[in-house]
Amino acid sequence: MSIKKVPTGHQQQASLPPPVPAPVNALRADMEAMGLGAPESAGSLLQVERAQKQAQRQRQQEEDEDTTMTTTNGADDDAPVLSIAKEKILEEVRAKEKTEKPVLSLVVVGHVDAGKSTLMGRVLHELGETSDKEILNYQRQSDKMGKGSFAYAWTFDAMDEERERGVTIDVAIDSFATPHRRFTLIDAPGHRDFIPNMISGAAQADTAILVVDGSSGGFEKGFEGGGQTREHAVLVRSLGVQQLVVAVNKLDAVRWAQSRFEAIREQLQPFLTQTGFQPAKVAYIPVGAMSGENLVSRSDEILKSWYEGPTLVEQLDSLDVPVRALEAPLRIPVSNVFKGQSATASGLAVSGRIESGIVQVGEKLAALPGDETGLVRALEVDGELVPYALAGSNATVFLSGIEANQLGVGSVLCPPSQMVPVVSSFAAQVIVFEPKYPITAGYAVELFHHSRDIPATIASLDAILDKASGQVTKAKPRMLTKGCSARIKVQLRNAASGGRSGAIPIEPFSINKNMGRVLFRRNGETVAAGIVLETLQ
Ligand code: GTP
Ligand code: MG
Repeated sequence: MSIKKVPTGHQQQASLPPPVPAPVNALRADMEAMGLGAPESAGSLLQVERAQKQAQRQRQQEEDEDTTMTTTNGADDDAPVLSIAKEKILEEVRAKEKTEKPVLSLVVVGHVDAGKSTLMGRVLHELGETSDKEILNYQRQSDKMGKGSFAYAWTFDAMDEERERGVTIDVAIDSFATPHRRFTLIDAPGHRDFIPNMISGAAQADTAILVVDGSSGGFEKGFEGGGQTREHAVLVRSLGVQQLVVAVNKLDAVRWAQSRFEAIREQLQPFLTQTGFQPAKVAYIPVGAMSGENLVSRSDEILKSWYEGPTLVEQLDSLDVPVRALEAPLRIPVSNVFKGQSATASGLAVSGRIESGIVQVGEKLAALPGDETGLVRALEVDGELVPYALAGSNATVFLSGIEANQLGVGSVLCPPSQMVPVVSSFAAQVIVFEPKYPITAGYAVELFHHSRDIPATIASLDAILDKASGQVTKAKPRMLTKGCSARIKVQLRNAASGGRSGAIPIEPFSINKNMGRVLFRRNGETVAAGIVLETLQ
């Protein structure tokens, strides 16, 4: 896999990030878009305000601690011994904003075989991120296995099993740059068996490309019945993605017919709006991944007669960059743990997206759940060693003083002085999808939070809410059915036995949006998604 070497340093949009937590109106807008109703009319405004006050107090405490830290330099054993003051880093980041490209995380999703890996493999090649020699090599080797059509997909499908079967199994992370943006690219699997991997990838993304198969019958297979086009769209939206690029692929198979492209757009548009995507935030781009049509450029004879919009890469280049919560406490949910050597560093390493805050070399971090801390020995972003890394970037953290068995996929790294609550029970506001059986109290689910999935029970149904107003329409309902919005309590199932599996680090959405989103699945289908209102115990 190609990892492009890019200059270090990051930036976000020109304006400064808002203080955490999100203002109530922003929270409301986000929840309403997902059909979750307005939190205050659901009776939870108090909780939101309480959470905000708590965060404010925490911030005040942090500020006090920061001041202490700079003067006593690590006198408190828990306080990170920082070599660069946070203010200095922020100053540097603001200066770089003017000259460097902002970073976005992009997940590529869609039904199995829609052409996701081929599309992005080809994009990376067209952008010069992979060499002709690498592609030739993939072509020769995949031909030998009778899988010649997967040559570009091999850019991401690196495991033997993936190459033999011609399907993506695990997410692959890479990076590339367009004229005005840098991207962390997450190639997700489409096969339904690997949805947990897809969720782990999508949880790390700001934005998504939804690839659909435009060939005759191909779109329908993914969109109707048990196809993954719908489920993936719902999942990425539930995980916080608001901008979507729909790549209508394989149009070569329908002779680049405009009518086919329009028909697909007409079917997707109402569905995506209903899923919570604002129409203005969704772009539809006709493409041919195999031939490279309309990725970076268009050939005269193919799409030019009827399509005048942007190419896929032009569209990516103009995506909005979210404001990062740089001043919030550091949160790194771990999506990968490995021991060994990279090109630049060695030792126990974990990787994941920095959801908020700043991490720097020399900092002591707690790994939750658990009582262990480790020291950041080195940091790597896009294959380069960096002195610090910021919210929004995908980093590899090399740790010392902690063993591999003391943390795992789903652990959260945070400063020991600003820990994430580790709980076995929480209140959530959810939207119910299409469960085979109605949800009742005691309903068993798999709870998904970032890269973690853990057995849980919907312990109680507290209220059904009106989706538009958020008003309670029914208190203590007996069951939740398709499409309803509700307040529930969730209990982790192995809580009684204690240990790692019985509790997870999680925060209310009002305190940290990226740490407060949850999904619930049962028997291989996603039954509900929502946000954490309050941690309980
Ligand atoms: P999973 O990750 O397993 O879900 O699949 P994917 O969406 O990554 O699809 P992949 O890139 O592996 O491609 C699946 C098949 O579609 C391969 O045989 C590709 O050659 C084919 N394919 C991809 N793009 C195009 C295209 O533009 N035109 C045609 N005709 N076939 C394509
Ligand atoms: Mg793939």
